[in-house]
Amino acid sequence: MQKSNWIYACKTADMPHNGGVCVQYGTEQIALYYFTHRKEWYATQNLCPHKKQMALSRGILGSQQGEPKVACPFHKKTFSLKNGECLNDENCSAIKTYPVKVHEGNVFIDIASLLTPNPSTYPAYEQQ
Ligand code: FES
Repeated sequence: MQKSNWIYACKTADMPHNGGVCVQYGTEQIALYYFTHRKEWYATQNLCPHKKQMALSRGILGSQQGEPKVACPFHKKTFSLKNGECLNDENCSAIKTYPVKVHEGNVFIDIASLLTPNPSTYPAYEQQ
């Protein structure tokens, strides 16, 4: 099981209602959302996989058959905030999602999956 690695993101009071902000961690941009209508918090990658725009933190929050979602402000590709799946284009890649927790007015994001190397991205090793 993957170990958690929580980073401080911001104060709850700094968040827009039913909107998002971009949290920079090293070279990574994470979109953090406060879905006020549902009293829920979510975090995803900020990069929209459609045309590689850093835009999802400025996306529009909504629900699709009970599933919380964000729509990219550029071409309205829509992603589940729970599992990152693209909900309106089967050819569009899913986005990364991150756990969020709130404690005493502070918001934290678990970036453990960012820090764990993904073997599928290693360059191929050719035996000689
Ligand atoms: S860049 Fe996000 S939908 Fe096109």
